[in-house]
Amino acid sequence: MSEIAILFHSGYGHTARVAEAVRAGAAEIAPARLIPISAEGELPEGGWEALAAAPAIVFGTPTYMGGPSWQFKKVADASSKAWAAGAWKNKLAGGFTNSASMNGDKAVTLHYLLTLAMQHGMIWAGTAMMPANSKAARRDDVNWLGGFTGALAQSPADAAPEEMAEGDLETARLYGRRIAELARRLG
Ligand SMILES: Cc1cc2nc3c(=O)[nH]c(=O)nc-3n(C[C@H](O)[C@H](O)[C@H](O)COP(=O)(O)O)c2cc1C
Repeated sequence: MSEIAILFHSGYGHTARVAEAVRAGAAEIAPARLIPISAEGELPEGGWEALAAAPAIVFGTPTYMGGPSWQFKKVADASSKAWAAGAWKNKLAGGFTNSASMNGDKAVTLHYLLTLAMQHGMIWAGTAMMPANSKAARRDDVNWLGGFTGALAQSPADAAPEEMAEGDLETARLYGRRIAELARRLG
C-alpha cells in the first residue's frame, strides 16, 4: 500500500502534535507520512505526488477565527487541480482540528474539511468513538471532546505543545489507526 498522507498545517506546533499522533496510529497498520504545510502555505517537495498516490488523506488544521488557517485554505484551493483531474476521487478521507477553547467553533473547521473531501469525491470516515461524557469522565479520557465527524484536540491558549492533553493525542492515534484499517479494507 502507498503511504497514507496526513496533510496538515500548524502555526505554533500544537496541531503538529495531533498530526504526529494520527500518523503514529496509522503507521501501526500501514505506511503513513506527514505532509506539513509551510508558513507560506506551500507543500514540501513531492507533496502533491504523495497525495496523488495516497490511499487515504487525513486533513488537519488549527481552528483560526472559526475556520481553517489561511495556509491550509491556500493548499485546499490549490487542490482544485487535483479536483479537476479527479485525482483524489474515491480515496478515504478524514480530518482533525485543534483550538484553544473547548468549543471554539472547531466543528465549523471540521465541516469545512468534510466539505473539501466531498468536493473531491472522497469517502469520509468519522471517529466511530464513544464520547467520554459521564460524571466519571476525566480530561485525559479518549474522545473527551466528543468528536464524531473527526478528531478534536484542545490546547489552552497559554499552553506549550508539550502540555497538550494526552487523551486528545490518544484519540488522534486511535483515529489514525482506524483510517489505516479502513484504507486496508477498501484496498
Ligand atoms: C489567528 C488565530 C485565530 C484563532 N482562532 C481561534 C478560534 O476561532 N477558536 C479557538 O478556540 N481558538 C482559536 N485560536 C487558538 C488556536 O486555535 C490555538 O492556539 C491552537 O492550539 C493553535 O494551534 P497551532 O499551534 O497548531 O497553530 C486562534 C489562534 C490564532 C493565532
